[in-house]
Amino acid sequence: MSKVNVVLGVFYGDEGKGKIIDYLSKSADYAVRFSGGNNAGHTIKVDGEKFAFHLLPSGILNENIKAVLGNGVVIDPKVLIEEIESLKSHGFPVNNLYISDKAHVIFPYHIVMDGILEENRGENKIGTTKRGIGPCYCDKFERCGIRIADLIASNFEELLKRNVINKNKIIEAYGHEPLEYRQILEEYREYAEKLKPYVCDTTSMLHKALKNDESILCEGAQATLLDIDFGSYPFVTSSNPTIGGVSTGCGIGSSYIGEVYGVTKAYSSRVGEGPYVTEETGEIGDLIRELGHEYGTTTKRPRRCGWLDLVALNYAIMLNGITALAINHLDTVGKLDKIKLCIAYNYNGNIITDFSSNIDFLTSCTPIYEEFEGNFGDISNCKTFDELPENAQKYINRIEELTDTPVKFIGTGAARENTIIREEKQKQLIR
Ligand code: IMP
Repeated sequence: MSKVNVVLGVFYGDEGKGKIIDYLSKSADYAVRFSGGNNAGHTIKVDGEKFAFHLLPSGILNENIKAVLGNGVVIDPKVLIEEIESLKSHGFPVNNLYISDKAHVIFPYHIVMDGILEENRGENKIGTTKRGIGPCYCDKFERCGIRIADLIASNFEELLKRNVINKNKIIEAYGHEPLEYRQILEEYREYAEKLKPYVCDTTSMLHKALKNDESILCEGAQATLLDIDFGSYPFVTSSNPTIGGVSTGCGIGSSYIGEVYGVTKAYSSRVGEGPYVTEETGEIGDLIRELGHEYGTTTKRPRRCGWLDLVALNYAIMLNGITALAINHLDTVGKLDKIKLCIAYNYNGNIITDFSSNIDFLTSCTPIYEEFEGNFGDISNCKTFDELPENAQKYINRIEELTDTPVKFIGTGAARENTIIREEKQKQLIR
């Protein structure tokens, strides 16, 4: 039987997963999203044309691939339909999309609640994307959520009415205008009609594919340190973007999983609140932001920027069983005179290399750095590792050494083709 390969972000999202997914999806039969919703964002360029997706798997532009939204994804139908229609208007037929009947649906009350909850948190706000993601997952676990299958079911009106009445009690208590359920009903019935042709039991579809020896690529959204269980709680998203999310988010057991690619940048960034040990709040942070164009795809917020943190990276490698790394933006750090790499933390005078996502720990730690020479020059045309300047090679080699994980992909520029692929780099799996 064939294996399932997975691409995951290792820090706080926005690592440039799309670039690696694009390459790997060329040899995959299925591209699957298993967690999160339209809080994610990726831009894909095809024949010079830019597509900004928040929900659709990046692999969908490959017409030979079947693109799947698994049961672990939360779906705002309005956003999904806009993305489908934008693709159709550019000549893509979109007859390769499959939506799990078990995925939960985002409603306007989730979006209103996301805003209210953030406002109510005051100084302790999480900095959510305000797309209703958290409140939708809350309903899923509270067992009052409405799933894609329910949108088309005969009792949809009943379920919606119940939820709107209940949510309005909270919405009004916070001094906001109540929502009108009939308006939502009409709108969502239209969405249901448009989405119906794509809905199916994606889990059994994927298992049939595995039996037929077809290959599956699971596309992570967000990243390890935003994980609801393993991230810097409460400054996290409401799902599991880590490896376990693959199993629960599309129904594929862990024994099917083959390669796990961890994607990072040669520096780091974070959007939203929460601790960030290697953050640079001064001039260097501003410089990295400008050089790396670090502004959110989803919310356009300027991203917080800093150095690559190997303590956190080793945690992500351990948690996810990462078999190879992809390091993007080597060209960006190469424009700096000096590059710092965090190799340990100083915690109350003790040198620590074991990460803890505990907030008190993270806010008490200071980074311990090794410094590297920058000024790589233009590396965008380097096609092999050996063509990279010595300083760039030293930086990558040190990351490999301190993580004991091969760096298989190296991003040397913004375009897809500005990527060094080291096919020979493969970790020996202990299985
Ligand atoms: P939520 O997922 O909208 O609830 O936001 C929770 C936290 O996760 C906030 O700090 C967001 O900025 C962050 N977040 C959610 N999705 C992404 C993403 O795709 N990239 C980076 N940060 C994200």
